[in-house]
Amino acid sequence: MNPQTIDVLGQNAHVTQGGAGRPILLAHGFPLDHQMWNAQFEPLSQQFHVICPDLPGFGNSQPSWPKTEAAVPPLTMPTLADWLAALLDAIGIDEPVVFCGLSMGGYIGWEFARRHPQRLAALVACNTRASDDTETIRRGRQLAAREVLRSGAGPVAESLVPKLFAAPDASNEINPRDEERKLIRQVIVETDPDSIAAGQLGMAQRENARQWLERITAPTLLVAGEFDEIVPAEEMEQDSSYIPDSEFVCLNHAGHLAPLESPQAFNDAVVDWLNRKSHG
Ligand code: MLT
Repeated sequence: MNPQTIDVLGQNAHVTQGGAGRPILLAHGFPLDHQMWNAQFEPLSQQFHVICPDLPGFGNSQPSWPKTEAAVPPLTMPTLADWLAALLDAIGIDEPVVFCGLSMGGYIGWEFARRHPQRLAALVACNTRASDDTETIRRGRQLAAREVLRSGAGPVAESLVPKLFAAPDASNEINPRDEERKLIRQVIVETDPDSIAAGQLGMAQRENARQWLERITAPTLLVAGEFDEIVPAEEMEQDSSYIPDSEFVCLNHAGHLAPLESPQAFNDAVVDWLNRKSHG
């Protein structure tokens, strides 16, 4: 593991790299940081060059917008896709990468596929959707952005954490993962409310990626969670049907944070699929 602070487009960015081989870029969800990939980092480093950044304004990466502005600007998905391409430039990666993004990281992945297709070897879209927001969700994000600026990140953590993990119940055999819940709650509480607001406003502006799914030529794996309350597995399966070279897998017992909740099954699914794709 090699955590570094590097310059990306004039701001400090935190990135952890490890391993050697094909580059795999891990893009975290909202409002999280690189630690949501803790259970992927070492196992994937056995076979790949893992690149695990904090997106601008999240974790230890500086925001990409001037902090002096009175109003928080939207942190858009195209901006984040271009920022990740600039991060790859900054660390000297010019070969196409495997882009693996969860939820907001997946929204960025669709934009990366559209804007930087020559840099994309394969796409892993986890617990994410291609469609844009409904008007109700968009309005909800605008309200949430105003609210977090008023009340801080604490209430966001309280309302979001229960939705991110599969509820432990009789039909759910996985461990409730108390340590992971604590970690995720801590990450959210420590996130700058400005970044949470900027992310909400940026996600509210995203385009409907279903418009360009059929033009994605890179092999694509969609990974859903059986108990994901935010993105139902059926919706991901439908998204997968629009992508020419795609596969869909649904992880039993997992919620919205499938890589953290079912790490072994997630890692096996991704590694097996990538190995199959590179051998044939
Ligand atoms: C995420 O996990 O990144 C969020 O659920 C994305 C969203 O709010 O749509």
